[in-house]
Amino acid sequence: MTDIQCIILAAGEGVRMCSSTPKVLHKACDRPLIGWVLEAAKPLLAGKKPIVVAGCGARQVKDHLGESAQYVIQESQQGTGHAVMCAIEHIRAHEGVTLVLAGDMPLIETAHLASLVALCEAGAAAALLTAVAEAPGGYGRVLRDGKGNVLGIVEERDADEAQKQIREINASVYAFQSQALLEALSSLNCHNAQGEYYLTDTIEHLAKNGGSVTAVTAEAQASMGVNDRVQLAAAQKALQKRVNEALMRQGVTIIDPENTYIGASVRIGRDALVYPGCVIEGPSEIGEGALIYPGCLISGSFIGAGAEVRSSQIVDARVDENARIGPFVHLRPEASVGKGCRVGNFVEIKNARVDDGAKVSHLSYIGDGSIGKKANIGCGVVFVNYDGQKKSRTVVGDGAFVGCNANLVAPVTVGAGAYIAAGSTITDDVPEGALGIARARQSNKDGWALERAKKANT
Ligand code: UD1
Ligand code: CA
Repeated sequence: MTDIQCIILAAGEGVRMCSSTPKVLHKACDRPLIGWVLEAAKPLLAGKKPIVVAGCGARQVKDHLGESAQYVIQESQQGTGHAVMCAIEHIRAHEGVTLVLAGDMPLIETAHLASLVALCEAGAAAALLTAVAEAPGGYGRVLRDGKGNVLGIVEERDADEAQKQIREINASVYAFQSQALLEALSSLNCHNAQGEYYLTDTIEHLAKNGGSVTAVTAEAQASMGVNDRVQLAAAQKALQKRVNEALMRQGVTIIDPENTYIGASVRIGRDALVYPGCVIEGPSEIGEGALIYPGCLISGSFIGAGAEVRSSQIVDARVDENARIGPFVHLRPEASVGKGCRVGNFVEIKNARVDDGAKVSHLSYIGDGSIGKKANIGCGVVFVNYDGQKKSRTVVGDGAFVGCNANLVAPVTVGAGAYIAAGSTITDDVPEGALGIARARQSNKDGWALERAKKANT
């Protein structure tokens, strides 16, 4: 078995993104561009960590990828060839095939890389991926002789008019015999329009010096690089199609895949149904048969089997089986809704547990606390959790009934089965089975309105 290592170029600034985030960390389907490249390479690396060449934004890149990669630093960005030279110790020490990929081409797939590796295994010194592009502008063009042999690559900025007409482009995905790459790197110079060391020049060097260079032509989309936000949007669209189609093949119904935005790491069970306009970001899990109605944002959350969610925002929260949420519910971090619960319109829940079978049906704020099993929270109840300095907790026991428009001023406990009268502001604990009532008594003034009207007319 050939030993395969992989170098991923990710040191460039990505000027054309006009961004303070390094280009390779921009996301498509909730995964950074470089994450897609890593996923494509992974099956070929037999557990070996890819070598990421970082430079601009190296700290952010390292923080993001962590232990999943090893790093070399390119202090100043002197071109793709120079970037590979920064990993020279890894190349020198290697017997086998070195894959070199750009971190900005998220549409590349394992099969493309495997076909390049196979060519090297069959004896090629280098194999590169090319594509025939409708609009080749900006890409390096592949130069071939009359017999179709690859002679080299010319960058757009160095190309003459005839070369600019060539539509076969260099995808910037290569497999090299490691020792051939080592030798070719030593031949690079920066005598070109950009004054950079071009990795592409290794191809011409190897072709001229007797090493065989071969190419695999892929579909244009796979070789698409992301240099600006227009291309980022195109990549996002293509990857979303891939993610959604995989989910549909696993048994998820997506009514309108073109208008449903699901992250690459999201897991969705069979027979779940997702309506248009939903955004589901990772790491989220949606259980079997769940119904996600239009316009939901679900991020970092768990939604149990058979749950229904309507036009709601659920972030870092948990919704258990058969619960019904929405419309217009906001579940914030550490919110947890138990089995069969009902959480209705305009309810906000933060850092609170709603136990199985409880109902919070309308217009409530449930912050920092817990609601017991089968308890009922009336319309407009507020957990008064903040005194301007610190947050405190409210505990509502199993089967309790909290009337409409009650304020529960934390820290406070309402015992199991207790009732709270509507309109009460509860500041003291209410014992199990008791009625808590805290409001001014009503008095009626007979004839008051008639008197007033009479005075106004005189
Ligand atoms: C490169 C190729 C071009 C190809 C195109 C495909 C060269 C000279 N040109 O051009 O033939 O058609 O990709 O998308 O290789 N990088 C570094 N350090 C550097 C410069 C770049 O790490 O000093 C990294 C970038 O972060 C990026 C990758 O290399 O991930 C490609 O660099 P980029 O500047 O985007 O190259 P292109 O101009 O697109
Ligand atoms: Ca590029």
